[in-house]
Amino acid sequence: MSNHKIIASNFKTNHTRASTRDYVEALDRGMRDIGYSEEVFLFPPATALDAFETESAIRIGAQNAYPTVKGSFTGEIGLEQLGEFAIETVLIGHSERRHILGESQAFIAKKFAWFKEQGFTIFYCIGEPLEVREAGDEAVRRYLVEQLEGIDTGYEKLVVAYEPVWAIGTGKTATPELIEKTHAVIKRLCDRPLLYGGSVKPSNIEEVLKVPGCDGALIGTASWEVSSMISMLEISEKLKTEN
Ligand code: 13P
Repeated sequence: MSNHKIIASNFKTNHTRASTRDYVEALDRGMRDIGYSEEVFLFPPATALDAFETESAIRIGAQNAYPTVKGSFTGEIGLEQLGEFAIETVLIGHSERRHILGESQAFIAKKFAWFKEQGFTIFYCIGEPLEVREAGDEAVRRYLVEQLEGIDTGYEKLVVAYEPVWAIGTGKTATPELIEKTHAVIKRLCDRPLLYGGSVKPSNIEEVLKVPGCDGALIGTASWEVSSMISMLEISEKLKTEN
């Protein structure tokens, strides 16, 4: 069985069009230098989306898009805008969109169904806030079940990311035990590749990727500096050859 892990970077509201271009060029070079031949997914801000030509397998995805080809949805982008750059990957259900932008599960499920219909690769995020975690395992399980409501968990181009809200951008990574336990719960609900996200960085990515049932990482803060991203890819590559 392949020991390959899926590594993805979510830029959130960071990087400009110019700095994204520099980043992609440096990443392309870095991936070649370390012999990283697997796909790496990058989610730059909408203003920096482009059809980058790279030798390495860098896949560009959108952090968000509206379930439409085009139309009157002020502030949103649709399939027409993504198609200009041949983008076929989208992030759906990120906690910042759920909790800061107020996206409901019903709307998220609608987006999911629509982009599935278009044949997109969908990175779908779920994860509980602190008060739910503190309420115990069963409360967490119920919360995650609700976040999968209306989602076709059998979709073959679905990648799930477990990102506990309390671990995002806080420097507080979930422990390997907690990731293993929660991933086991999610795998029973949805048998797709499952990434962990939440304060993953060069100093902890090895222990995260070694967690049984962890198929990769979705990284925010620590991936915004390209040298740090390349270090993490190097660690992932080393783990692959170790096993
Ligand atoms: P951080 O790595 O900054 O915690 O962000 C994780 C995340 O939200 C990725 O989507």
